[in-house]
Amino acid sequence: MNARIVISEFMDAPAVAQLAARYDVDYRPKLVDDPRALEAALPAADAWIVRNRTAVRGALLEAAARLRVIGRLGVGLDNIDVEACRARGIQVIPASGANAESVAEYVITAALGGLRGIFFWTRAVEAGTLPRQMLSQGREARGKVLGLVGLGSIGQLTARKARALGMRVIAHDPYLAAGDAAWNEVQGPPRTLEQLLTESDVVSLHVPLTPETRGLLNAQRLSLMKRDAMLINTARGGLVDEAELAAMLRAGRLGSAALDVFEVEPLPARTALAGAPRLLCTPHVAGITIESNERVSALIAQRVAEALG
Ligand SMILES: NC(=O)c1ccc[n+]([C@@H]2O[C@H](COP(=O)([O-])OP(=O)(O)OC[C@H]3O[C@@H](n4cnc5c(N)ncnc54)[C@H](O)[C@@H]3O)[C@@H](O)[C@H]2O)c1
Repeated sequence: MNARIVISEFMDAPAVAQLAARYDVDYRPKLVDDPRALEAALPAADAWIVRNRTAVRGALLEAAARLRVIGRLGVGLDNIDVEACRARGIQVIPASGANAESVAEYVITAALGGLRGIFFWTRAVEAGTLPRQMLSQGREARGKVLGLVGLGSIGQLTARKARALGMRVIAHDPYLAAGDAAWNEVQGPPRTLEQLLTESDVVSLHVPLTPETRGLLNAQRLSLMKRDAMLINTARGGLVDEAELAAMLRAGRLGSAALDVFEVEPLPARTALAGAPRLLCTPHVAGITIESNERVSALIAQRVAEALG
């Protein structure tokens, strides 16, 4: 009997077809929204493929009694109980590196637009006020300091692109040894988080969400940033105090911010962020492009097939 693969969120069609040629595939991209149907599908699963919306833990994970492999169509593993999987010998496979290019391009786009201030004036131009005076305060990226919190795959790729624009790139990553080749991608020595926040014109977060990093940018740390600096968060929502960030933007204590990820997704109606000025929000898509979808799905199809044998 063929091994069975349950896919509970969207996966690129050619990768699904590749798996279906060899395995018994149950592909329902909206299964994540029907917990009872998902729980019913899982007891037969040898492999389970998810994006970031499926919570792989608790009763659902227990229902998957014969599970051997989890494929994650993305990078962060905070939606998966990795400890419980380890205890049961279930292999967890992230698509490491496959969407890094998309995230790095997003960060550069946000940094350029944020420094220049060009994202925030459409309404005023449409209203006929032609606010050229305000837009004349935009800044160039060349010579500005980009501070990367986390220098893994995405941090390193972002550093390379930012250097090509003439930015000075610094980083904080306490888990990288001083001699690690990753430090060649940035300028100057490893920084403490406090040094990085004080020095940077643009701060971009590239760390996983863990108990240690939750609330990393709290009110006290946010207050260290320059008044005209920009914060970019494509990593995970729980890293930043959203209410404090919104208050700082409103009070003119921070230049601008771009957020792709939020403490609660989708954002609740009464979020503190609503209406905050100089704030660009996108719905957790920094890592998603046509190209990265193809790469991520192809990689996970291949790695899950290898694991199933
Ligand atoms: N918005 C999106 O669409 C999207 C897409 C891909 C990844 N992500 C997020 O981006 C994160 C980073 O991705 P990656 O591929 O670069 O991961 P990675 O594992 O390659 O790098 C993470 C880096 O963070 C460092 N780190 C861990 N704890 C730290 C801390 N407390 N302070 C500073 N550095 C710390 C690690 O040493 C590592 O070098 C992922 O965990 C994921 O949550 C978001």
